[in-house]
Amino acid sequence: MLQTELLQADDAGINRAAKLLKNGGLVAIPTETVYGLAADALNGPAVAKIFSAKGRPQDNPLIVHIAAWNQLADLVSEIPPQAEALAEKYWPGPLTVILPKSSKIPHEVSAGLNTVAVRFPSHPVARRVIQAAGTPLAAPSANLSGSPSPTCAAHVLDDMRGRIHAVLNGGDCEVGVESTVITLAERRPRLLRPGGITLEQLQTVLGEVAVDPAVLDRLAEGQKASSPGMKYKHYAPRAHVVLVKGSAEKYAAFLNMQQDKKVYAMCFDEDIPLLRVPFLSYGAKEDAARQAHSLFYDLRTLDDMGASTVYVHCPALNGVGLAVYNRLIRAAAFEIVEL
Ligand code: TXA
Ligand code: MG
Repeated sequence: MLQTELLQADDAGINRAAKLLKNGGLVAIPTETVYGLAADALNGPAVAKIFSAKGRPQDNPLIVHIAAWNQLADLVSEIPPQAEALAEKYWPGPLTVILPKSSKIPHEVSAGLNTVAVRFPSHPVARRVIQAAGTPLAAPSANLSGSPSPTCAAHVLDDMRGRIHAVLNGGDCEVGVESTVITLAERRPRLLRPGGITLEQLQTVLGEVAVDPAVLDRLAEGQKASSPGMKYKHYAPRAHVVLVKGSAEKYAAFLNMQQDKKVYAMCFDEDIPLLRVPFLSYGAKEDAARQAHSLFYDLRTLDDMGASTVYVHCPALNGVGLAVYNRLIRAAAFEIVEL
């Protein structure tokens, strides 16, 4: 058991975090998407500790975080013009780009692939820690493997207390879901994971962008995952989650029929007046940014409220809604009720 330090995001806290990281330690840091569990990306044994702390499968590669454009060249074997164009428009920000890796990337980071995922976060605390550490940081979301990603320091501690050296408290994460992941390592750009930078935004820079089938559906038995993380059960709270498609009226009628007292609705604001079961709203129907912001926080809160089953009103599939839907179908293990 480690004694996990809780650090504040001031000069002293940031310097302490940087020192721990330089010495091969594990520190959870805030980013604009979710909290990341960071280690020195160029230190293979330090990165290996991330996998044991999270209980993460060894074949699931990590994202490398940088705090300046010129840190990219060392990490990849080429920078195609499309990567430059995306970086110019959306970095720093919630976008991860996959490129052919350089020989500097330890195999622990790339999990045996010949590519590396790179992201330049916009969160000022994340950027300061990377700069102070003087090295790019490998960081997956700072949750136990399979659980909802943490969007505040308290949720990091719930999962990681005693498993990591420190948590740097930077308050609540603004976006609330993990970064958009796109691969530019193949002939055509392909969206592997939707996030805060939308498919529509990527298309304005790149023109056509393919959408990996795993974004919207379950992988068929034996099908190879382009992004290994997409094949695992994910983002799931302890409660049984079911996604429900239908109008406000049908959704409310379906929930009001349920007998079990521990059934909760994770609904839109508009559903509230119609519901006669316990509920938690995750935003207005049209407000996908708010839904993304609340999603993981609310899934963990529903566990604390004692929910046994949570019926989530299904979001729209455009804009950031695609990211919300992508996380929810996994939290629900693809269990969807169509009314
Ligand atoms: O917003 C985020 O991206 C957060 C914060 C901390 O930056 N990080 C994050 O990391 O979500 P993680 O490890 O939870 O998700 C990374 C995803 C996984 O699905 C992984 O399989 C995929 O990116 N990935 C990483 N490297 C890859 C590669 N070289 N090729 C394909 N997929 C890759
Ligand atoms: Mg994750």
